[in-house]
Amino acid sequence: MLAPEKRVDRRLRRRYGLTGNGGAARSGSPVLEAIELKKRGGELSEGLIQEVIEGYTTEAVPDYQMSALLMAIFIRGMGYGETLALTAAMARSGARYSFPECVDKHSTGGVGDKISLTSLPIVAACGAPVAKLSGRGLGTTGGTVDKLEAIPGFSVALSEERFRRQVEGVGLAIVEAGEVAPADKAIYALRDATGTVDSLPLIGSSIVSKKAATGAGHLLYDVKQGSGAFMKSTEEARELASLLVRLSNDSGIQASALITDMDEPLGSAIGNALEVRESVRFLRGEGTPADLSEMARVVAARLLELKGIGDAEGAVERALSSGAAFEKLREFVAAQGGDAEALEDLPVSGDVREVTTPRPGHVVEFGALGVGRAALALGAGREKKGERVDPGVGVEVLVKTGDRVEEGQPVARIYGSRNAGRAEELIRSSLKVSDEPTRRPPVILGSL
Ligand code: URA
Repeated sequence: MLAPEKRVDRRLRRRYGLTGNGGAARSGSPVLEAIELKKRGGELSEGLIQEVIEGYTTEAVPDYQMSALLMAIFIRGMGYGETLALTAAMARSGARYSFPECVDKHSTGGVGDKISLTSLPIVAACGAPVAKLSGRGLGTTGGTVDKLEAIPGFSVALSEERFRRQVEGVGLAIVEAGEVAPADKAIYALRDATGTVDSLPLIGSSIVSKKAATGAGHLLYDVKQGSGAFMKSTEEARELASLLVRLSNDSGIQASALITDMDEPLGSAIGNALEVRESVRFLRGEGTPADLSEMARVVAARLLELKGIGDAEGAVERALSSGAAFEKLREFVAAQGGDAEALEDLPVSGDVREVTTPRPGHVVEFGALGVGRAALALGAGREKKGERVDPGVGVEVLVKTGDRVEEGQPVARIYGSRNAGRAEELIRSSLKVSDEPTRRPPVILGSL
């Protein structure tokens, strides 16, 4: 709990109305004015939003007032103009980069989502440079930074100069998102603690503020929909996708979006080293599940189109079949201190057990949320920010929706011993087998 009286200087206390005498504090306080307006369904001006965000970033606005405002926004909503103003104010709150020539992608997060590891080396090999700031995983959602750190020696902490040089020289650099949009970071933590996360304008402004501060000129959003995703229905996913694209375009970023399935894990591997291994298999042209192979190709082609590169699909195929995309991954890994030789056989836990199906039939569901929770229980992810992850543990699913299975057939492999019994239970309860055959659902559900 913050104690504003103790740490806010007198000038800021006056400006934000923290006079300690209740109602008298109201006059001249931007945050109180914003709360008053929003709780009655009014519209916040761009200037007022800027003042509140500035006040919160400098800790002049205390958590309790910001929480009240967030709840008012959650209940009353925000118009598009307010959402754009909030996006811009949060983007301005910290470090800003400018990479107008670069492409970037953003996934709203899912289970086994290794599309950055697979599509970005392809686009870099095709001549579209990538300067990416990535995050760590939380809950069942994995993070690219954790996956890259499963490669021995790989560093996600480059100086800005080295980052820029690598973007120019290698065409691909990925570092941990540090101080971009600190206002969003603080507000997101508060939303998490106050039940105000699932608000469309707050989600949209949060995501786009970080992207605007990162500064790539061309951006593809991958909005996931399904049991393992933030957005559970197609309508919600489409609404978020169209808000993200509009906010980005109005922030000077040329953007488009895909809506993709997250009812079951993407590919077969869930867990950091396991996902890097699967990405390497894909880039080397070895067999990988069709959903992963399709998504990585489509995302890469859409990024090349955003960059204006002709015959995008042909370029993607050539980068894969010539080995250029895999070579680009190796070059990128080595440039960031990673052992490129280790990519071929990254170490994973030797504690392996198989989960079998008790009945024959057709797989109608292998729920992403349950499988993600199993990987989390094994230590592949973190329940709370700051927890360590175990790079070598996780789950491999061996069947997908639509597959025929026989009694006793292995359906998943568990790597790791921590909570392995619980992980097994979670996997078993995520698998639904029926007598009726079913079609494999498409992985790409829409685009805009
Ligand atoms: N991801 C973000 O970055 N922000 C949100 O509000 C939700 C998901």
